[in-house]
Amino acid sequence: MSDPTPITEKAVSAAVDAALAAISTAGDSAALKAARTAHAGEASPLAKLNATLRDVPADQKAALGKLVGEARGRVTQALVAQEATILAAEETARLESETVDVTAVPSRWRAGARHPLSLLMEQMSDLFISMGWEIGEGPELEHEWYNFDALNFDEDHPARAMQDTFYVEPVERHLVMRTHTSPVQIRSLLTRELPVYVAAVGRVFRTDELDATHTPVFHQIEGLAIDEGLTMAHLRGTLEHMARSLFGEGAQIRLRPNYFPFTEPSAEMDVWQPNAKGGARWVEWGGCGMVNRNVLRSAGIDPEVYQGFAFGMGIERTLQFRNDMNDMRDMVEGDIRFSQQFGMVV
Ligand code: DAH
Repeated sequence: MSDPTPITEKAVSAAVDAALAAISTAGDSAALKAARTAHAGEASPLAKLNATLRDVPADQKAALGKLVGEARGRVTQALVAQEATILAAEETARLESETVDVTAVPSRWRAGARHPLSLLMEQMSDLFISMGWEIGEGPELEHEWYNFDALNFDEDHPARAMQDTFYVEPVERHLVMRTHTSPVQIRSLLTRELPVYVAAVGRVFRTDELDATHTPVFHQIEGLAIDEGLTMAHLRGTLEHMARSLFGEGAQIRLRPNYFPFTEPSAEMDVWQPNAKGGARWVEWGGCGMVNRNVLRSAGIDPEVYQGFAFGMGIERTLQFRNDMNDMRDMVEGDIRFSQQFGMVV
């Protein structure tokens, strides 16, 4: 075992100088910890000098003990001071890094989007308003008389059957969830002065299972025009105008004979969709016809004086073929990513 370094002022101040230099250059907690171990730990020069105190002659013990003790005290003080400085700096840095600027403009924000069905319904309503038509309304929970009887449905018409229509209990009250927007025809005729030009957009209900082409809750647009001297040419012109505004200038309308209780003659209407994704095509779009005389009579209107036309189509279906969508379920699920594809129309 080598002789321990004798305690001298020179040895002590060399150890202190080295310690203070290391402490003052320690820039963070880790460096300070290393300096503490090296200069104040058990194996540090000062600790070793301290350990030799027990071997010094008794008459020098007090003086040398004081020398070493003061030296260790200075190192300890330097450590404490530097630690406080480092902790304060680290705290400041942490606070700065966590600063939230509440006035900052967020760099990434997700805008919402309006549902394409809402946009389409608005576009349709606006179109009729632009032609001077009014917007009609009726309740979704409707009396069977408006939904069926006044529209000339037979007592045993299949559409009344329980498997199509949501009847609301108690059945004796004859309330149904309206199966189409056509009852708004009757409500409009009963509450407005003639002539009547009314479009109604709204929710309708049928007992269909939700699948790629059906939903039990969907929307329709209904049109009704009652005036003197209206003919099928007016119906055609109106539908053509509507088709062009929704599908482009090249759109056309084709009528095929059909039956609806509330129109006579009745027609199924197809639209020529010029810009369809897979190429221009005819698509079945809705129903229409000249308003049945019995419907006019239900509303107290003299069919000898007034005539008119009506039409109705599904809005989900329109959106589906206009935008080439495979699955109607996407329209009801409410996933914002679906709506966002249609752009930020407000
Ligand atoms: N209400 C019919 C339906 O839901 C659609 C319809 C057909 C409406 C002919 C009309 C019309 O106004 O004239 O299937």
